[in-house]
Amino acid sequence: MKTYRIAVLPGDGIGPEVTTEAVRVLDAAAESLGLAFEKTHYPHGAEHYLSTGETFPDEVIEEMRGYDAILLGAIGDPRIEVGMLERAIIAGLRFQLDLYINLRPIKLFDAKLCPLKDKGPEHVDMVVIRENTEDLYTGIGGFFKKGTKDEVAMQEMILTRRGADRLFAYAFELAEKRKRKKLTLVDKANAVRAFDLWTRAFEEMGQDYPEIERDHAYVDAACMWMVKNPEWFDTVVTSNVFGDILTDLGAMIQGGMGLAASGNIHPGKVSMFEPIHGSAPKYAGKNVANPLAAILAVQMMLDYLGEDRAATAVENAVRGALLDGEIPSASAGNGLGTDEMGRIVSRRVQAELAG
Ligand code: IPM
Ligand code: MN
Repeated sequence: MKTYRIAVLPGDGIGPEVTTEAVRVLDAAAESLGLAFEKTHYPHGAEHYLSTGETFPDEVIEEMRGYDAILLGAIGDPRIEVGMLERAIIAGLRFQLDLYINLRPIKLFDAKLCPLKDKGPEHVDMVVIRENTEDLYTGIGGFFKKGTKDEVAMQEMILTRRGADRLFAYAFELAEKRKRKKLTLVDKANAVRAFDLWTRAFEEMGQDYPEIERDHAYVDAACMWMVKNPEWFDTVVTSNVFGDILTDLGAMIQGGMGLAASGNIHPGKVSMFEPIHGSAPKYAGKNVANPLAAILAVQMMLDYLGEDRAATAVENAVRGALLDGEIPSASAGNGLGTDEMGRIVSRRVQAELAG
C-alpha cells in the first residue's frame, strides 16, 4: 500500500476543528483509493507556548523535512504578542523550508457565492502565485531609539534576481499548463523602483515562453480589475505583500475565507498546505467554522503529491455540495456544524471514488 507521511499542525482557534475535518476527508479519499496517510500531530501554537514557553524549535522544523507534506490549520491567539507565533510557525516554515511559492487558486464554484454582480464560475477562475520568501517578510530592519520621541522603525523590502528567476520560472510553467496561457505580473514598478529588477527578469524569462501572453498590472489597478473584470486574470504572479492583500480580495470573490486554500511550495521538496483564513478566535470551539478551506488545502496537497484522482474527487465533492445546497454557503453560521460539513464532503468523496 502506498503510504505518505504527513505532519499535521492544527494550531490555534478554529484550526483544530477545521483540521479534524480536513483529515477526515483525506482519510475518506485514502480508504477509497487504497492509500495510507500516516499522520504525526504537532501541538505547536498558543496553548503549547503558554504551557511550555516553546514557540517552534529549530529541531521541529528540521524534522519537517522528513515528511511528504505538512498540513496546517491556523495560527494566532489574542493572548499572545501580535504576530509572534505567526512569525515563528508560519513564516518559520516558509523561510526555513524555503517554500518560495505561495499558490492561491481563486476559483468560483457557483455564482450564488460571488458578491460581484453578474459574475459566475466562467469569470472567476485564476491562480495567484505569491512570492513567499522575500519582500517585507524577511524581517530585515529594526528599531532605533525605541520608545522615545525620536524612534525610527525600518523594514526593508528585499527582491533578489535569483528569487525572481525561480518565481517566474514556476509561473510560466504553470501558465503553460493552464488553458488560457496568460500570465499577469502584478507589481508597483511605477512607484517602487526596486521592481525594475522584476520587470527585466519577467521580460527575459518570457522570451523562452513565446506561447504565453504576458500581461502586467500595478497592484492598485489589479485590485480594481479583479472586482470589475475578474475574467481578465488567469495566472497571476506577484510579490509577497501584494499577494497577501490581493488573495484576501480574491477569497471574497470566490465565496469567502471559508473557501480559500493555499500551498506553500518548494517544487520537489516537502511543502505546506493551509487555509488562507486565520484562527478566528471568536468562532473557536463552537463547531461553526467552515472547514471547506482546510479541505481544499487537502485537495491541493493531494494534487502536489500526484494523487490526481483523489484531488479531483475532493474538489468535485466540495463543488457538488455547494451547487446542490447540501452546504448552503461558505460562511460560518450557515446552519451546519463544522463536523457535519466534514462528513458531507467525506461521503461525497467516497461516492465520487466509488464509481
Ligand atoms: C497569510 C497570512 C500570513 C501572511 C500571516 C498570518 C503572517 O495572512 O498566509 O496570508 O501575512 O502571510
Ligand atoms: Mn494573508
